[in-house]
Amino acid sequence: MSDKTKILNVELADKSYPIYIGTDLLSLNSLMTDHIEGKQVMIVTNTTIAPLYLEKLKAALEGFNVESVVLPDGEKFKTLETLNKVFDALLKAKFDRSSTLVALGGGVVGDITGFAAASYQRGVNFIQVPTTLLSQVDSSVGGKTGVNHELGKNMIGAFYQPKAVIIDVDTLDTLSEQEYSAGMAEVIKYGLLGNADFLSMLEDNIESIMARNKDLIIEIIFNSCQDKASIVALDEFERGKRALLNLGHTFGHGIENAFGYGNYLHGEAVSIGMVMAAKLSMDEGHLSNEDAIRVENILSKANLPIAIKKSIDSETLIEAMSLDKKSIDGKIRLVLLKALGESYLTDSYSKENFNGVVNNFCH
Ligand code: NAD
Ligand code: GLY
Repeated sequence: MSDKTKILNVELADKSYPIYIGTDLLSLNSLMTDHIEGKQVMIVTNTTIAPLYLEKLKAALEGFNVESVVLPDGEKFKTLETLNKVFDALLKAKFDRSSTLVALGGGVVGDITGFAAASYQRGVNFIQVPTTLLSQVDSSVGGKTGVNHELGKNMIGAFYQPKAVIIDVDTLDTLSEQEYSAGMAEVIKYGLLGNADFLSMLEDNIESIMARNKDLIIEIIFNSCQDKASIVALDEFERGKRALLNLGHTFGHGIENAFGYGNYLHGEAVSIGMVMAAKLSMDEGHLSNEDAIRVENILSKANLPIAIKKSIDSETLIEAMSLDKKSIDGKIRLVLLKALGESYLTDSYSKENFNGVVNNFCH
């Protein structure tokens, strides 16, 4: 492991686990094997990632009984049917309760694999090897796993923590510009919701970050994971503070839903959602106009959208937002900003201000 590798821990008592962030970690045998208990290892990946990284990972697992299952690529395959393919592979290979699942891929593969690990024979070990920026800063950490239902996103799932998260930033070399930017939305989110110093660091270095300077990538992933890990350690099951991680997400899920999946990447919808949350926070008397412009500027410099591209009517968007599972008793709960770097959860914002912001973005 190189000196540059950073390690941090998600502190969850007997479920605590390390996150490793560095270069060339995929081929490091010891890192993986330290977190595998039995001999049976099932790598779950998809048709895009398998040709790029599967053989490399298999080589690092020499000495184990390694099998793999290659899933179709895409959010539309994040279903119970695809999950069943993982169970089919595990059962055909006669894997038992001592087996370990390794998720090699982005958030879709990670969420499916985690849920498969939570439910196969009532729970087996799993390791996250995230390969998109979004999954490296968000979905691989914290133990939310699951699949979509045709009536709602991520509606079927479990909280189930991995044994380790291994983040090899070299995998980002093959990630498209658009997916990289989508991951940046979640990185910027951490600055906005609770870490003003991190936000300033991102503003100062955004050009080099977008040019994929590796030292900076390691630093921003470390900061993001550290912020997420500390929130998850306080509130694993989202009974309170963890909901702050949904800044921009309720608006964002509404946009994803209203346009239909595939029109916006998750991170792109969250980017617009964070601008909407900032505008509402301004109207609620917390942010200045300059603050709201700072939010737009940093997202624009990360090549993210800050407005809805085609107009939809506000009723459709509000209806789509209320489908989000963060709504309680029909009330749309939102994460708003008291200041840049300080967020709060509320359902008692002014309805008039809320409608005003939605109307402005929809027309
Ligand atoms: P994704 O998994 O669909 O990956 C995006 C695309 O990049 C896919 O086509 C994938 O095959 C490809 N890809 C992945 N790694 C690559 C690489 N290194 N090189 C080239 N291509 C690569 O999307 P995502 O943005 O990683 O994750 C989105 C999913 O994560 C959503 O389903 C969302 O619900 C979920 N999510 C979960 C959590 C959580 O806490 N569990 C948090 C945020 C998002
Ligand atoms: N992505 C939000 C969470 O993990 O809680």
